[in-house]
Amino acid sequence: MTHDAKHTAGNAEETEVWNDETVEQYVAKWGKDPTNRMTVEAAGLGPKDVVVDVGCGSGEAVRVAAERVVHGRAIGVDPTPAMIRIATEQTREHACAERIQFIEGPAEKLPLESGSANVVLAINSLHHWAQPDAGLAEVWRVLVPGGRFLIGDEETENGGWSHAEGDLSDPVKIRHLVESHGFESVCTSRHTDADAVLLLMESNKPAR
Ligand SMILES: C[S@@+](CC[C@H](N)C(=O)[O-])C[C@H]1O[C@@H](n2cnc3c(N)ncnc32)[C@H](O)[C@@H]1O
Repeated sequence: MTHDAKHTAGNAEETEVWNDETVEQYVAKWGKDPTNRMTVEAAGLGPKDVVVDVGCGSGEAVRVAAERVVHGRAIGVDPTPAMIRIATEQTREHACAERIQFIEGPAEKLPLESGSANVVLAINSLHHWAQPDAGLAEVWRVLVPGGRFLIGDEETENGGWSHAEGDLSDPVKIRHLVESHGFESVCTSRHTDADAVLLLMESNKPAR
């Protein structure tokens, strides 16, 4: 498998089609991708944080986050109904299930109230958004002032950022995109463990 095939819906034409069949294939291969856990670990969540994972897939990062936000909440949002169904099924028996919620919806129209989240995550997700500009405007809307936005992507085999092509594979352009929406203190970092290499871009919605 080439890196281009990774983190795509896995359909024969390698186009972006998320449906029952491609979702089953994706979750079987990548549902527990270590970059989910690594992003949450790097996020340094506080116990009262309300965390939203945009493009949450089968919910791995949401479950890991819920173990840390013991007085908060962890919410996964994804536009693909089959992802939300699998995420919900996989979470039913989880010890932190009462702090976890999955909601169907796209980044471009987040089904959340303004100023309702402290931390927003987008893990292997940003390059799948149909309209990144609209999605970033929504991330800004749902974050409280002082809230944090973390983009996590697995490093590609050639050392690149994300499995996208074009602007969303270029960290300089991603940074400009994020800054153009008002996010500040943008910083990138690289995290390795035995299973994966995570590239992370963290930024803040300025406090008032
Ligand atoms: C490569 S998967 C990543 C899933 C999960 N974050 C992970 O890393 O395991 C990309 C996810 O983006 C979701 N997605 C597609 N279009 C989206 C959009 N417009 N807004 C938010 N998520 C989207 C897909 O449904 C899919 O679950």
